[in-house]
Amino acid sequence: MLMPGYATSVGTDRYRHRFELKFPGHFREFQGLWLSSIGIGTYLGDPTAACDAKYRETVAEALESGINVIDTAVNYRHQRSERAIGQALSSLISSGKIQRDEVLIATKGGFLTFDGSEPDDPSEYFQRTLIDPGFLRPEDVVAGCHVMSPKYLENQIDVSRQNLGIEALDIYYLHNPETQSANVAREEFDRRIRAAFAALEKAVAEGKIRIYGMATWNAYRVGQESREGLSLPDLLRIADEVGGKDHHFRAIQLPYNLAMPEALSARTQRVDGKGTPVLQVARAHGMMVFASASLLQQKLTDDLPAETHHWFPGLEKDAQRAIQFVRSTPGIASALVGMSRSAHLAENLSTALTPPLNLEQFKAIFNQ
Ligand SMILES: NC(=O)c1ccc[n+]([C@@H]2O[C@H](COP(=O)([O-])OP(=O)(O)OC[C@H]3O[C@@H](n4cnc5c(N)ncnc54)[C@H](OP(=O)(O)O)[C@@H]3O)[C@@H](O)[C@H]2O)c1
Repeated sequence: MLMPGYATSVGTDRYRHRFELKFPGHFREFQGLWLSSIGIGTYLGDPTAACDAKYRETVAEALESGINVIDTAVNYRHQRSERAIGQALSSLISSGKIQRDEVLIATKGGFLTFDGSEPDDPSEYFQRTLIDPGFLRPEDVVAGCHVMSPKYLENQIDVSRQNLGIEALDIYYLHNPETQSANVAREEFDRRIRAAFAALEKAVAEGKIRIYGMATWNAYRVGQESREGLSLPDLLRIADEVGGKDHHFRAIQLPYNLAMPEALSARTQRVDGKGTPVLQVARAHGMMVFASASLLQQKLTDDLPAETHHWFPGLEKDAQRAIQFVRSTPGIASALVGMSRSAHLAENLSTALTPPLNLEQFKAIFNQ
């Protein structure tokens, strides 16, 4: 049986009250939910039982110590990350340490995935599990790995709900939809997006997901002359046409860190004929924005130039400085940090003992 419930205003507020004295300014309100400014990601790591155990322990420890944002995807470590999160959640909730309504759980679908490990014959596996039951038509697959047809998404939402053991996914992202825009004509891409959004609105109506979004790598960081570049205003228009003015396309995710500041600095979007950074567009529409790769996949944890250290008073480690930059950026809901190791969680979460930079301190970084 799947666990009922979802993240709510009351639940996330209850959660924040347990930690707000220890971590000043760590919880911020987005769309009525109080979210920790640091979230745990579960992308990297081998598809092994040893790595499952590390994620199980670290996710549980994160939830017990002040992180209520969890990010995953069905294909991460061949579904093993979702399952490890599901186990951690279920044990904490059954022992009464946390409640379901206190935690925001986000996952993603779009990439083809295996079931725990790579099968000997991947074609036979996809034929048997997806094509024969009618979830997938081979012509919907692009780049040999990506699908966003309604039937496939419906199936993948159910797979994620089972893996995580929960009735409702708080955010369901289309995963790297630019894989599609780079491979099909724009008209066909728009048609596919429209169909995907309709399927996601239906999943909201059925109580399987609460809101939906897009988790991207290049889509909002590159200009629209690139085939991977996507226009958030155009996508919002499609959501409006499909789901009405109260549509549920309400979140985006993209890489953002000290070395990849494009969400804030690159004018990749056009609003009233003017180049505008995606963070500004998202804020204007009340969307939640989650930063992925806050540490640039461990490339910002060791040798930040010494002359940057004074930007981040009170913090001793480069990983903490990098996280402080991301979580202090106006409009970022949560800095997602991949951490399977408990020691990394402790180091990263202690960033939040220091309040986020105020606007003046943040702006000073760009005026050096
Ligand atoms: N397109 C997309 O949708 C997309 C793409 C990328 C990422 N994401 C999401 O964003 C999350 C974060 O991004 P990411 O995991 O790719 O990269 P990241 O958060 O920048 O870096 C994660 C790596 O840094 C290590 N680490 C964590 N804390 C550390 C510390 N204090 N000192 C040294 N190393 C540390 C982790 O090691 P351990 O695991 O050993 O602790 C892991 O190898 C992902 O997990 C995923 O949920 C989404």
